[in-house]
Amino acid sequence: MNAFKLTHRALMSNVIDDKIKLTQQLQLLSINQKLSYEATQKIQKIPNPGRPKKPELVRFQSLPQRDKSDLGFIKTIHAICHIEFNAINLALDAVYRFQDMPKQFYQDWIKVAFEESQHFTLINNYLIEQGYQYGDFKAHNGLWKMTVDTDYDVLARMALVPRVLEARGLDVTPKIQKRFMSSKFSAMVDILDIIFFDEINHVKTGNTWFHYFCKQRNIEPLSTFDKLVKKHIGSKLRGPFNIEARKLANFSKQELEYLERI
Ligand SMILES: [Fe+2]
Repeated sequence: MNAFKLTHRALMSNVIDDKIKLTQQLQLLSINQKLSYEATQKIQKIPNPGRPKKPELVRFQSLPQRDKSDLGFIKTIHAICHIEFNAINLALDAVYRFQDMPKQFYQDWIKVAFEESQHFTLINNYLIEQGYQYGDFKAHNGLWKMTVDTDYDVLARMALVPRVLEARGLDVTPKIQKRFMSSKFSAMVDILDIIFFDEINHVKTGNTWFHYFCKQRNIEPLSTFDKLVKKHIGSKLRGPFNIEARKLANFSKQELEYLERI
């Protein structure tokens, strides 16, 4: 089975169950060494990956503030569910788009896509238990925008998607868990523990490949990262940073110092 063709099918699938099944199939084929990696003829730009009609996507700024009511908590859970759904597509796009990488690169990102599909299912099942489901509220499209913006170079993708966007999840998760702890949705604390552990590894995977490509191109990682942040984010990175979690995700001493200077 051709890895890129199957990944493209999963990525473009707009039926949630199909996308999850295809992602599981990819992971199974990947660990059993049943995937081949001949490049496809054309690599398409993907302004819109496969996603269900709902949630309706709106600009981040037009999402209402969430309050401390039960519905406010549900909306927070829905927002996390949306991040996990996007994360499946983010990882699949890394596999599909960059077709001349070492085999390990694909094995890594297929595994990430598979784990993101598990995270999505965990959260969506919890939403269903509460009488809601993915798609019930509006959501924003910031994560995919950065994916499209970095589709020109695998180095930029590794620098900004796992190391900035996904690493941000490590910073904010403990605070979100604290809020859930004293609510009637305290089961979310355990769910987020599982997700947090996996996300450390995903960010670590991003760090491994970012440094791999820097070394391959003989460029200095920290100044390269700084340039890419300025180019794509413009302003400074948002802190405060979860230094302990970022250490576990293999951010280097210099990188952590760079973050702490911000
Ligand atoms: Fe995730």
